Amino acid sequence: MHGNEHSREIKIGILGATGTVGQRFIALLAKHSYFVIHALGASQRSAGKRYAQAVQWKQTVPIPSHVRDMVVKECKPEHFAECSVVFSGLDADVAGEIEDAFRRAELAVFSNAKNYRRDPAVPLIVPLVNSSHFAMIPQQRAQHDPPLQKGFILTNANCSTTGVVVPLAALEKAFGPIESCMITTMQAISGAGYPGVPSLDIVDNVVPYISGEEEKMEWETLKILGGLTEGDDGLKVFDMHAKSPLRISASCNRVPVVEGHTECVSIRFAKRPPPSPQQVREALTAYTSDAYALGCPSAPRHTIFVHEEADRPQPRLDRDYQMGAGVSVGRVRQCRVLDIKFVVLANNVAIGAATSSILNAELAVVKGIIS
Ligand SMILES: NC(=O)c1ccc[n+]([C@@H]2O[C@H](COP(=O)([O-])OP(=O)(O)OC[C@H]3O[C@@H](n4cnc5c(N)ncnc54)[C@H](OP(=O)(O)O)[C@@H]3O)[C@@H](O)[C@H]2O)c1
Repeated sequence: MHGNEHSREIKIGILGATGTVGQRFIALLAKHSYFVIHALGASQRSAGKRYAQAVQWKQTVPIPSHVRDMVVKECKPEHFAECSVVFSGLDADVAGEIEDAFRRAELAVFSNAKNYRRDPAVPLIVPLVNSSHFAMIPQQRAQHDPPLQKGFILTNANCSTTGVVVPLAALEKAFGPIESCMITTMQAISGAGYPGVPSLDIVDNVVPYISGEEEKMEWETLKILGGLTEGDDGLKVFDMHAKSPLRISASCNRVPVVEGHTECVSIRFAKRPPPSPQQVREALTAYTSDAYALGCPSAPRHTIFVHEEADRPQPRLDRDYQMGAGVSVGRVRQCRVLDIKFVVLANNVAIGAATSSILNAELAVVKGIIS
């Protein structure tokens, strides 16, 4: 992490502040250099209570002292009128309407929910990968009825998609398009929120199904790794990697790990001959995100940390490296069916959720989109 001082404080709100992702927002933002936690929102069950009473706090650090006594509000824009930014960790069942109401009220909304990821005017940004998609925001504001001056919605990706697109982006940058990608995930329980998967279903077990997850990985990866082009009407469109078709097959499994998604990935490059495992290791290590280059304070120094040990990365050992803001890769080797295979580990609650939103908001500040 490094520092790019911002001259003034920016008041932020957190929607879904009592949930798994909301709690991580609070833990990460408690000492942020310019975002200041100003308002907290959750359901009617929590509204009106002090935060410490409303939440079942599950973080390894205490609730920040200035947050403990904040009164939780209902998720209505009027309670967040003094904020310019809201981070949303809302349940997908309610995120659609609530986030739109905040956008209409001219707030910048950084969402973790799936509701707007497929919207053709909403950028789906993994901040270590595709910050160029911020270019869609003026069009989103202009298309709104009535046009918006400050409000917009920006989403980050599903937590398992986030882990895999970072090394894929690094390899496409170094070696050109990837044409096929097979992914098998081993996903942590915290990815299902709290209380999430019942203990009797997951202890001593592997569940080979996570509803909707494989479809999300296969679709979101194309939006993120694709570019922005202009249609005949002059409007920007996401090209979904159409210039060089990319076939993705994902198999998603829930495993008895608390935090950190592990993913086994095999890829085939379009260009022949493909790079060697050593060239792949070097390209992954050399990759630097725009978020780091532009000085975002929460950006990890090592976007991708490449392990040389044969038995790493492992979730318990590697999920907290750089506060979970980067991704870990290991076991880079030849694949006998495609070209190259490797293992990725990403912290699903940090870079897979809250850290991505925070980095996206920092990028929006650096790019002058939030003023
Ligand atoms: N967990 C992860 O690793 C992860 C990663 C990436 C993306 N996501 C996405 O992030 C979002 C949050 O996930 P999570 O794991 O944090 O879920 P969670 O632990 O179940 O938390 C859900 C939050 O939504 C609030 N909420 C529920 N119903 C509401 C309503 N009617 N009005 C206002 N607030 C309401 C809850 O408040 P109460 O406490 O008052 O009920 C709680 O704060 C989901 O869309 C999820 O898909 C999660």
